[in-house]
Amino acid sequence: MTTPPRTPYRTPYPVPGVIWASLPIPAVLLGLDGRITEVNPAAETFLNVSSRALIGQPVLDRLSIDAPMEEAFSRARANQSTIFINDIDVTTGERAPVQCNVQVAPMHDNSDFLMLLISPRDIADRLGRSMSVKSAAKSAIGMAEMLAHEIKNPLAGISGAAQLISMNVNAEDRELTDLIVEETRRIVKLLEQVEQFGNLRPPDRRAVNIHDALDRARKSALVGFAAHMQIVEDYDPSLPATLADPDQLMQVFLNLIKNAAEASKGQPGTIRLRTFYDLSLRLRRKTGSPSVLPLTIEIIDDGPGIPPELAADIFEPFVSGRENGTGLGLALVSKIISDHEGWVQVDSVPGRTAFRVSLPVAPKKMESY
Ligand SMILES: Nc1ncnc2c1ncn2[C@@H]1O[C@H](COP(=O)(O)OP(=O)(O)OP(=O)(O)O)[C@@H](O)[C@H]1O
Ligand SMILES: [Mg+2]
Repeated sequence: MTTPPRTPYRTPYPVPGVIWASLPIPAVLLGLDGRITEVNPAAETFLNVSSRALIGQPVLDRLSIDAPMEEAFSRARANQSTIFINDIDVTTGERAPVQCNVQVAPMHDNSDFLMLLISPRDIADRLGRSMSVKSAAKSAIGMAEMLAHEIKNPLAGISGAAQLISMNVNAEDRELTDLIVEETRRIVKLLEQVEQFGNLRPPDRRAVNIHDALDRARKSALVGFAAHMQIVEDYDPSLPATLADPDQLMQVFLNLIKNAAEASKGQPGTIRLRTFYDLSLRLRRKTGSPSVLPLTIEIIDDGPGIPPELAADIFEPFVSGRENGTGLGLALVSKIISDHEGWVQVDSVPGRTAFRVSLPVAPKKMESY
């Protein structure tokens, strides 16, 4: 048997396989017939399918890209040049469409093969937004706190006066004074919520089992606001502990489950609590050091989805699509999660809304706490 000649351009390092595996964005190699011949690990995660199940499949069966892709493939081959397609929706399996920048590049040594690179825009875009949400939340909350304080005193006066008047009026007028008392009580409750929001103490972080926190939230939800819902657990029991304030983490899960339960508007529905390990999300901390957030928790409901006109702002304080909503639930979630150096994002289409929380793993030495 003769040994094949060594390809001259291959240097021992960097090894192409290593580059392929380390490429942080989803990459797919395609043959002449548009079938997948190779996928990198980032693409497996993006598609949520293993490479074994993907290889040999027509790429456009697995990925729905909102652009004339067949044409892009033939142009890339014919012109031997890279085609860039920006800001298009890419849909995979059951997930909601993700806005991506896509590149189609012919392989240098064999133009029968094409490389398809898909860069989801959400991570980069939302990174900027989360920080601005945090500071917007801070200034809006500071102002609201001050107002809450100022409004509570005169409200107490108004309510007291209405109660005094109600003693000397007929039944018809008493209805009106009762209305004043009832409505002022509602405003005081809202103001107290705002004050509580502003008072959130810094997290007291320790090693916490995510499933314990989820369980507490699930049980409390089922005996209260989510009594009409079915809550299904889909856990990866091998997940290591995260570093979190257990009460604040439970508050996050409770708020997300509450929104999911309220979305069904009293109709029965299903909420799925899913946990898994996902190494694809890496953020840069304020200090500049990278952080990996592999512990992933999804709260998925089968309700009508987030109203499109609110979608861009739901993490902002005081944005609500519900009649009696204060709009503080998700702002609080976003604040707590960013205090924990984590990440929260949402995918929503009618029939499937998934809030995804990504958290870091607790350092090894803390796990015995
Ligand atoms: N799972 C969901 N499905 C559909 N819409 C949702 C979902 N979660 C949030 N929303 C929308 O986002 C809005 C903001 O949610 P958020 O929790 O911040 O406030 P809220 O629920 O209205 O009020 P609060 O939580 O303060 O009582 C909601 O009013 C709702 O319109
Ligand atoms: Mg809410």
